[in-house]
Amino acid sequence: MEIKSVILAAGKGTRMKSDTPKVLHKIFEKTLLGYVLDNVKNITTEDFVIVGHHAEEVTEFVNKNYNNAKTVLQSPQLGTGHAVSMVCPYLENYKGQVLILCGDTPLIKEETLKAFIEYHNSKNSDLTVMSTIFENPTNYGRIIRDTDNTLKYIVEEKDATQAQKAVKEVNAGIYILNWDKIKPAFSQLTSNNAQGEYYLTDIIAWGKKNNLNVNAFILENSDEIYGINSRKNLAEATKIMNIRKLSELMDNGVTIVDPDSTWISEDTEVGADTIIYPATYIEGKNKIGKNCKIGPCAHLRGNVEIADNCKIGNFVEVKNSKINHSTNAGHLSYIGDSELGANINIGAGTITANYNPITKVKSKTIMKDHVKIGSNTVIVAPATLEEGVNVGAGSVITKDIPSWALALTRAPLKILTDWVKKAN
Ligand code: UD1
Ligand code: CA
Repeated sequence: MEIKSVILAAGKGTRMKSDTPKVLHKIFEKTLLGYVLDNVKNITTEDFVIVGHHAEEVTEFVNKNYNNAKTVLQSPQLGTGHAVSMVCPYLENYKGQVLILCGDTPLIKEETLKAFIEYHNSKNSDLTVMSTIFENPTNYGRIIRDTDNTLKYIVEEKDATQAQKAVKEVNAGIYILNWDKIKPAFSQLTSNNAQGEYYLTDIIAWGKKNNLNVNAFILENSDEIYGINSRKNLAEATKIMNIRKLSELMDNGVTIVDPDSTWISEDTEVGADTIIYPATYIEGKNKIGKNCKIGPCAHLRGNVEIADNCKIGNFVEVKNSKINHSTNAGHLSYIGDSELGANINIGAGTITANYNPITKVKSKTIMKDHVKIGSNTVIVAPATLEEGVNVGAGSVITKDIPSWALALTRAPLKILTDWVKKAN
């Protein structure tokens, strides 16, 4: 059945204490909302992002990056149920399913969402909510079940009795519903509760009252629904995401010498037998080949492709660059907006000067196969170094260099015999 998503992102995010809207805060240079949208993109045909607080910024982000998503303004923000009701005009004749998620929950996995939907379908459910068990359930809505263990309703922390607060099964805030069955609920929700809000959670009780098939899917790995409300949560989520990524890479044959000091974004692929040395930080989307050595203390900043058998050593920063196989940049270098061929050696302290601060233009450095760059060289882009070029140490390269030439810019060495003795 067709699935469309609704992603709630209109709330204030007060606890972040930030001028940036909460859902645009980043983990490994990717926004929280970006994670959620990426996780649904193989599942849904269209995504509605509910915006309110900082609506312009969130809308701009969505329009720029996600063709499949449409933002819908919720103003004022009267609660999560009210937020979802904003899509009703867009889905008047829609007969498919709606998957509801929060924009501040970046750790949910695509495969979990698929299992959740499969469960919903296998139960012939009209409405399924995701739940999980928390040892400390404070602040979450509690799942209240009947004596026969079927779902009854969800009660929010602020409305809960002491007995209800003791319940450890919580609402994860993710729902799938058969739209034509549940749609009428959105015009019948009331704000008769402690927060005076229209709660989305009330659709459970509404479904039960209307004799619909309502179920809960219990998520085993509760980490996945970890929500971001504060900077501490952001750091914790980064850690969870990192550990998950490193263990996936190790399972696939990558050596991580020190998982405690290594940071690798979810969107980075690494080939088998590559070794990642300590204190390496890899953010954004990257592809690293097989049998490479990365770090210690390397920084890959995104849009980096490194083929097999390369070495990116200590204090080397690489950004927006392609590096072909068997190329080495061992020490203290910056490679930005570059295309490097195979079998290149980049000497220590080489800089591709890609940015002109006056024109604000970024330019490309191209090096063909077998180029050798002497230490402490600056290549002022745009520049192309053709096949086999050698550059003498300490040079500043400002032009294209033809194949197999030696290029060097260097004041001639003077040796003044006994100069020191005579000076005294
Ligand atoms: C909500 C659930 C709670 C659940 C928890 C899981 C309700 C009433 N409660 O609580 O049962 O355990 O999520 O994380 O649904 N938002 C809007 N418009 C609004 C209000 C909120 O778009 O008018 C968005 C927020 O930006 C946020 C999401 O909805 O992304 C959830 O809102 P939030 O206020 O954080 O709800 P919780 O108190 O966490
Ligand atoms: Ca929340």
